[in-house]
Amino acid sequence: MILLNDNRAIQILKKARRFVVLTGAGVSAESGIPTFRGEEGLWEKLSPEELASFEAFYNNTGIVSEWYQHRRDIIHNTEPNPGHFALTELQKLAPNFDLITQNVDGLHQRAGSRDVIELHGNIMENYCINCNLQYSQEEFDEIYRHNPNHIPHCYCGGLIRPNVVWFGEALPEKSIEKAYQASMQSDVFLSIGTSAQVSPASNLPRIAKQNNSYLIEINKTSTAISDIVDIHLEGLSGEILPMFVNDYRLLLNDK
Ligand code: OAD
Repeated sequence: MILLNDNRAIQILKKARRFVVLTGAGVSAESGIPTFRGEEGLWEKLSPEELASFEAFYNNTGIVSEWYQHRRDIIHNTEPNPGHFALTELQKLAPNFDLITQNVDGLHQRAGSRDVIELHGNIMENYCINCNLQYSQEEFDEIYRHNPNHIPHCYCGGLIRPNVVWFGEALPEKSIEKAYQASMQSDVFLSIGTSAQVSPASNLPRIAKQNNSYLIEINKTSTAISDIVDIHLEGLSGEILPMFVNDYRLLLNDK
């Protein structure tokens, strides 16, 4: 056992029926996608209000659309990392498993995870703010490419926006409801690569803990929830997660 030399943790993991995982930008950092906070974080260099709000989009559609297209280009050129793949493996091993993500990059799905609960939307999807028509990435690219001002318009004349949650906007109701339910019912809750500073996502580990879940954090530094977790595993998720899942597999075989 590389990580799980804690007897209590071993007993809890062996018996656990329901695993819930919450991921944040740190999980995709090793794929080459910048996080939001911290030294190299997006919000250190750019103001969220100027780029990630409906007002910003409406007033500066060209600039905001260009920024999202730039982020899509980065994501297109990345691959899921061992942390994403380990979570896909954990989904297969655990009796019940829910993966909740704040990430909009779709890398969990590309790694093979199923039924991912996306709290902040998906950057590859777009829709018209007027008639709600959905655009696939290919359809959007086509419109964007033929538009020198980078102001994408729908056939109806409305602006086309990315399907992401901006500051001041509500989270998709069904997703957050599912996330709350799963967290409340979890036996083990893993919070991975998130600074746990943005609510309501940051409430989920706290809710899990209040409902007697065993809280495990994987992060390269301590976070806003480190003082309430049962185990804090410090390091890179792409390195720790494969070891964690391997240990869990050994525990299951050991029954
Ligand atoms: P943050 O950028 O706030 O935090 C990233 C976390 O990942 C930090 O705690 C880092 O220490 C940690 N980290 C970085 N690299 C890591 C690695 N390789 N392995 C493990 N941990 C690592 O990102 P989030 O918590 O996801 O919202 O941010 C939450 C929300 O704030 C985002 O979804 C976004 C942003 O504003 C919206 O856009 C609505």
